[in-house]
Amino acid sequence: SLPSLKEKYKNDFKVGVAIGYGELINSIDKQFIKKHFNSITPGNEMKPESLLRGPDKYDFTIADAFVEFATKNNISIRGHTLVWHNQTPDWFFKDSNGNFLKKDELLKRLKKHIYTVVGRYKGKIYAWDVVNEAIDETQPDGYRRSNWYKICGPEYIEKAFIWAHEADPQAKLFYNDYNTEVPQKRMFIYNMIKNMKSKGIPIHGVGLQCHINVDSPSVEEIEETIKLFSTIPGLEIQITELDMSFYQWGSSVYYVEPSREMLLRQAKKYYELFNLFRKYKKIIKSVTFWGLKDDYSWLRGVFNKPDFPLLFDEYYDGKPAFWALIDYS
Ligand code: XIL
Repeated sequence: SLPSLKEKYKNDFKVGVAIGYGELINSIDKQFIKKHFNSITPGNEMKPESLLRGPDKYDFTIADAFVEFATKNNISIRGHTLVWHNQTPDWFFKDSNGNFLKKDELLKRLKKHIYTVVGRYKGKIYAWDVVNEAIDETQPDGYRRSNWYKICGPEYIEKAFIWAHEADPQAKLFYNDYNTEVPQKRMFIYNMIKNMKSKGIPIHGVGLQCHINVDSPSVEEIEETIKLFSTIPGLEIQITELDMSFYQWGSSVYYVEPSREMLLRQAKKYYELFNLFRKYKKIIKSVTFWGLKDDYSWLRGVFNKPDFPLLFDEYYDGKPAFWALIDYS
């Protein structure tokens, strides 16, 4: 049987995994999760569209099951996510006639949502991705032109953190984003967080999603990002959605299965990446994989072709990448 991943990194950082309800009701998966991981993130089940059935109508059945599993097994749980432009019902931004809400109405609805969700799991969910993917470096001011922005301007971001903190003062609150190695993007994020900190907004960390591929970004580019955020006093960094695709975004390459050479290339990069994370373990407190094993990865749906971005294959066997993370000295 495989050595335990979380054991190996117990003096470094939490090792987490994003899972869906399917894993929660699969006893083999559950055993495997308990063995290798000490943190979980519900991949979809706490997003607004999953929790909400209509205005003020919540169904917490499945979300509760995640929290119960985590609590029962002494596993930390990250909440994902409160404010996002995706996977939020259209009606959230509209009144009963289908017209867009005014700013104060939308903010009121957001406040209620945050109080309801964060409040429900107060003391149980230790970290929240409060705002997800609000930066778009192609905009002159760096803010994504989402419904949130169009209706509220950037103010919704700070408000979300303030309300999440009110709902659970103990919870660690994160801003989470992808492609954080793009220089303009990381500068926008950096400036936004610096600015919030200077105003006393309760933001405690930055989540680097790290949906990367075997070619890019490089480990050096990722280090540049970590270095930049490490200059903000007291800011924690978490790697929140790590996976390593064999495809460049949009490429037409197709792999039925990975060759030995590909698997070793992936192993080498995972190895270097974890060396980097360990180098910064004072500020990187958690590293979460976005999926338990290759056949569960969301990337298979995104690219609509086989991909092998994680540490375990479909038979729960450790790939070379797994062994590279275990066998370092
Ligand atoms: C993904 C889920 O894994 C998929 O199952 C779903 O279809 C789409 O969302 N960035 C995020 C995550 O913050 O919430 C996304 O999760 C992956 C990209």
